[in-house]
Amino acid sequence: MKGCEKYIPFRPIELKGRRWPSNKIEKPPVWCSVDLRDGNQALVDPMNLSEKLEMFKTLCAIGVKEIEVGFPSASETEYEILRALIDGGHIPDDVTVQVLVQAREHLIRKTFDAVEGAKNVIVHFYNSTSALQRKVVFKKDMDGITEIAVAGAKLIKALGDEAMRKSGANIRYEYSPESFMGTEPENAVMICGRVLEELGADKTHKVILNLPSTVENSTPNCFADLIEYFCDNLPGRDATIISLHPHNDRGTAVATAELGMLAGAERIEGTLFGNGERTGNVDIITLALNMFTQAVDPGLDLSDINAIREVYERTTKMQVGPRHPYAGELVFTAFSGSHQDAINKGEEYMRTSRSEYWEIPYLPINPADVGREYEPVIRINSQSGKGGAAFIMTNTFGYKLPKAMHPEFGRVVKRYCDEVGREISADEVMNLFRQEYIDIDGPYMLTAHKFFEESGADETAVRFEGKLKNNGAEPVDISGLGNGPIDAFFNALATVGINGYRFVDYSEHAISIGSDAKAVSYIHLTSPQGKNLFGVGISHNINYASIRGVLCAINRSLVKTP
Ligand code: KIV
Ligand code: ZN
Repeated sequence: MKGCEKYIPFRPIELKGRRWPSNKIEKPPVWCSVDLRDGNQALVDPMNLSEKLEMFKTLCAIGVKEIEVGFPSASETEYEILRALIDGGHIPDDVTVQVLVQAREHLIRKTFDAVEGAKNVIVHFYNSTSALQRKVVFKKDMDGITEIAVAGAKLIKALGDEAMRKSGANIRYEYSPESFMGTEPENAVMICGRVLEELGADKTHKVILNLPSTVENSTPNCFADLIEYFCDNLPGRDATIISLHPHNDRGTAVATAELGMLAGAERIEGTLFGNGERTGNVDIITLALNMFTQAVDPGLDLSDINAIREVYERTTKMQVGPRHPYAGELVFTAFSGSHQDAINKGEEYMRTSRSEYWEIPYLPINPADVGREYEPVIRINSQSGKGGAAFIMTNTFGYKLPKAMHPEFGRVVKRYCDEVGREISADEVMNLFRQEYIDIDGPYMLTAHKFFEESGADETAVRFEGKLKNNGAEPVDISGLGNGPIDAFFNALATVGINGYRFVDYSEHAISIGSDAKAVSYIHLTSPQGKNLFGVGISHNINYASIRGVLCAINRSLVKTP
């Protein structure tokens, strides 16, 4: 592809002895949602008041404690929405509302008017600092840009102190050197240091320094180097909370946030499902659940991800893609046979081992932890294998098919999928099972049956007596003695010339069919030609379930070629 020569590659800093690669994320960051500001400003139809309110309440319910609600000096609507939130008493006491403002006097004054009456406020001001923005947009050198930030900080401190004195509100400050990624690191440190001085930041009055990748333009490791450099070189690091605001231009905002946290960041600004300008902001949900799957409690309640998604899609009119991490429609679905098989085995392992850990291949998270269902984990199409069909039978219908039977039933399902040429439903899988194993009533059929126990000198034998019908012929009496019901039945069959079948294996379990409890038994035989044969029998009586299974296997061998 031609034309790449015109792009200027990101110039990474030379960071010697970087420490962040050996760090771990062991606690969650302070979460700040910018859905109502950065997210909202990127919508074709920005949210109206009631949509913003609903989104705000959803964010509070999830447990987000810092929420950027808008840019009240930029538009009347934003101003009014903020007033409605405050005057309507919608802001919980433990939630801080954050308002964004450019570092310009008249806008700062209007912003303070907009937040009057709010209990906890973060006034977030910014100006752009990158070499490109200085050259192209502001036509100022770094001193000129620093003056803007310092003047803004001075005014904010004065107005903030006054507002706190008057109202007792808790007002905190945040500064963003916008386009931080394109700012020379020493300039970023310098301007932020000046802002901290003006705001009188100290350990008890920490100022949030928010370092955005306004446009993501390097690999996440280069960003992490910048953050480690920044934290190491900033005078008064302990008077600050280092916040990140990653955008997703290269599709790596989550990685940028994660590596940035390793490098020292303590706070993350992002949005639900990554909504935001261009390719969006970092997705808070993915980030939080990534932590969750590393055994770190993210401090957010995402246990009903479908409900969060529903509010998000309705209020923003955006859509969550089917492959979106944790929330997409298809992310707990396995089509491929080998994946289905492994999930099936993992499920069984979890059941039998009672492991306290989540150890299921291909499922990095238990879908139930985010309120998703197991049921759609396996979907069946012609790519699916034996494990998929068996999984559906166990998890949706309660039939625990023995392993030896999986390949045969898998072939039945695959053949049907090929015929219909589409994905098939769980009910269709059940219908195939019923047709193949349950609705088999010929050529041989029992019209009567009884078992008797017969005690000999030192052991008990079982006698089977019944009437066997072959197609339309009159039923004949059969009888046999054996060391158990199946053996007795085999011996009875031999008396009418049904022989050559060999018993291989048998398993059974109870099953609830509606409100009825029955026994289901799976019989594995070999035919007189040595072929594997399977049969299923269901009855209230466990002995009868087994002989039905035997008869089912024999009948299938006579009418079907499985
Ligand atoms: O992306 C960005 O840099 C911003 C700032 C205003 C923080 O949204
Ligand atoms: Zn942004």
